Amino acid sequence: MTIKPVRKAVLPVAGLGTRFLPATKAMPKEMLTVVDKPLIQYAVEEALEAGIEQIIFVTGRNKGALEDHFDISYELEQTMAARGKSLEAIEGTRMKPGSPVYIRQQEPLGLGHAVWCAREIVGDEPFAVLLPDELMVGTPGFIAQMVEAYNSVGGNVIGALEVAESETDKYGIISPGNVDGRLTEVTALVEKPKRGSAPSNLMIPGRYILQPEVMRILERQETGAGGEIQLTDAMAQLIGTQPFHGFTFDGARYDCGDKAGYIQANLALALQREDIGPAVRSFAETLLR
Ligand code: G1P
Repeated sequence: MTIKPVRKAVLPVAGLGTRFLPATKAMPKEMLTVVDKPLIQYAVEEALEAGIEQIIFVTGRNKGALEDHFDISYELEQTMAARGKSLEAIEGTRMKPGSPVYIRQQEPLGLGHAVWCAREIVGDEPFAVLLPDELMVGTPGFIAQMVEAYNSVGGNVIGALEVAESETDKYGIISPGNVDGRLTEVTALVEKPKRGSAPSNLMIPGRYILQPEVMRILERQETGAGGEIQLTDAMAQLIGTQPFHGFTFDGARYDCGDKAGYIQANLALALQREDIGPAVRSFAETLLR
């Protein structure tokens, strides 16, 4: 089996972000900041750190701020330079020319549909998918850890994370087989199983390395949970035809698609910061006293 390198990542960013209204009325939810960096930039940096060369954003209407964020801002840069200010803070927003690709998902037909919209750009090679709502903090990052595992087993490798039994109906859930260190064989997958029917409490935390064959399955546009075209259902059909593993991340996960998770991410990352950490800590302590 030849293991082709993962060079491309798909970032689905077409969602409306209704859970964060009114904040997301005129601003993409992926531009919500954790401390001083938008969620989208964390995901892009995680992908680039893993050696991924091309970032494919599957975007939608009113998402222009995302494209601007990874472009040059002449006015800002010239003004800062003229004032003798360092441009270090925006270094992470610079991408290699030709690296970001933006395509549109015209209708919100599901995560599987969003990924399928990237099929022509992905072509016939393995690719990563990162859901920017899920903020993963680790050294190295989640996708870098997954790429390393993928380079030894090939096939499909998806994130796997234990959640409370009561949470399993919110996620894609893995039916686990043999476990070898951080890798777990995936024997089946189910999207948002009804309460009490989940095959395990191992959820898929929005990180995937997939083979291009999944696009052929998504092509059929079959709908699943919630009437949407589900990535989980398409992946499930690859099991048995290709190696399929879950990978347990060494690091922290913050579900920034959820308000409490988003606040937790801000607090946790602020506390880790040298510049503002001490002030935030002492304020939090006072507040809780
Ligand atoms: C999506 C996926 C689900 C996954 C989750 C992670 O669900 O369909 O399998 O576990 O992301 O956040 P969504 O949050 O879009 O409903």
